Amino acid sequence: MKILVTGASGQLGRTLKDVVENQKDLNVVFKSSRELDITDFDAVHEALASSDYAYCINCAAFTNVDLAETETDRAKLVNVTGARNLALNCKASGTVLIHISTDFVFDGYLNVPYREEDIARPIGFYGDTKYKGERAIINNLDEHFILRTSWLYSEHGSNFMKTMIRLGTERDELSVVYDQVGTPTYARDLAKAVLTIIMAHSIDYGVYNYSNDGVASWYDFAKAIFDGFGIEIVLHPILSEEYPTAAERPKYSVLDKSKIKETFNLEIPHWKDSLKVALKAYSKTTV
Ligand SMILES: NC(=O)c1ccc[n+]([C@@H]2O[C@H](COP(=O)([O-])OP(=O)(O)OC[C@H]3O[C@@H](n4cnc5c(N)ncnc54)[C@H](OP(=O)(O)O)[C@@H]3O)[C@@H](O)[C@H]2O)c1
Repeated sequence: MKILVTGASGQLGRTLKDVVENQKDLNVVFKSSRELDITDFDAVHEALASSDYAYCINCAAFTNVDLAETETDRAKLVNVTGARNLALNCKASGTVLIHISTDFVFDGYLNVPYREEDIARPIGFYGDTKYKGERAIINNLDEHFILRTSWLYSEHGSNFMKTMIRLGTERDELSVVYDQVGTPTYARDLAKAVLTIIMAHSIDYGVYNYSNDGVASWYDFAKAIFDGFGIEIVLHPILSEEYPTAAERPKYSVLDKSKIKETFNLEIPHWKDSLKVALKAYSKTTV
C-alpha cells in the first residue's frame, strides 16, 4: 500500500517515520515542505497524480498559534488553501486523506469533554484557519479522516516537553498557567492511531477526536515533566492573564474520545503513562 506524508519534517511527520519504520507492507513516501508545498495546487496535483497513493497523511500546517494572529495570510494559505488543495487532488486521484486538526477549533467554554459534533467556535486565528481547513476538506472530499488532537509533544521538533526540560536546566523557578485545562498527546500515540485507521481499511470517514486519556493543566503537565526527568525547580501556578500571549487559548479543551475508541477498537494510553515513554525516548536522544 502506498502512502504520501506531507509536512514530513515536522514533529508528527518525523514521528510517523519512526512508527512506520518496521512496517514492511507499507510504502510510505515522506515529503517535506521543500519537496512538496501544499499551497501549490499544481505541485500537489502532480505529486498525487504521479502515483497510486491509497492514503495521504497531511502533517503540514502553520502551527505557530501566536504568530498566526499577525501572519494571517500565511496561516490561511497553509491551513485552509493547503487543505483544500489536498482534498481536491485526493478526490481526483482516489486517495483517502488523513488530516490533523486541533482542539483549538473549540472556544473552551464547555466544562465536559468536547465531542466531535459540538459547535466549533475558535477564539484565535490559528484555530479559525484549522476549522476552515476542516470545512474545505469536508466540502470537497468524502473520503477523509480528520483527527482533532491537542497539546502534541514528542522527542522531535519543538514542543512543551522539550521547552520545559530546557528551561528546567536554565532556571531555578518557573511560572506555568494552571487555568488552561486539556490533555497532552504523545505524537507517537497519535501516529499509531493513524496507522490503526489505515490498517483497518476503514470507510467510517469523518471527524474524530484523538488525544491521550486524562486531564491536565499546563502546570500539571510541567510538574510531571520535571518529576519524570528528575529536574528540581520551584514551580509557580499562575493565571493565563499573568502570562499574556498574542493569541487567546481555550480555557478547557478536553476531547471526548469515545467515537475513535469504539470505531477502531482503540485503547488510548493515559497521558502520564505516555509521558514516561516519551521522557525515556527523549533521554536516549540526549546522551
Ligand atoms: N503541536 C501541537 O501542539 C498541535 C496541537 C494540536 C494539533 N496540532 C496539529 O497537528 C499537526 C502536526 O503538528 P506538528 O506539531 O507536527 O507541527 P510542526 O512540527 O510545526 O510541523 C508542521 C510541518 O508543516 C510544514 N509546512 C508548513 N507549511 C507547509 C507547506 N506550505 N507545505 C508543506 N509543508 C508545510 C512545516 O515545514 P517547515 O518547518 O519547513 O515550514 C513543518 O515541517 C498540525 O496539523 C497541527 O495543526 C498540533
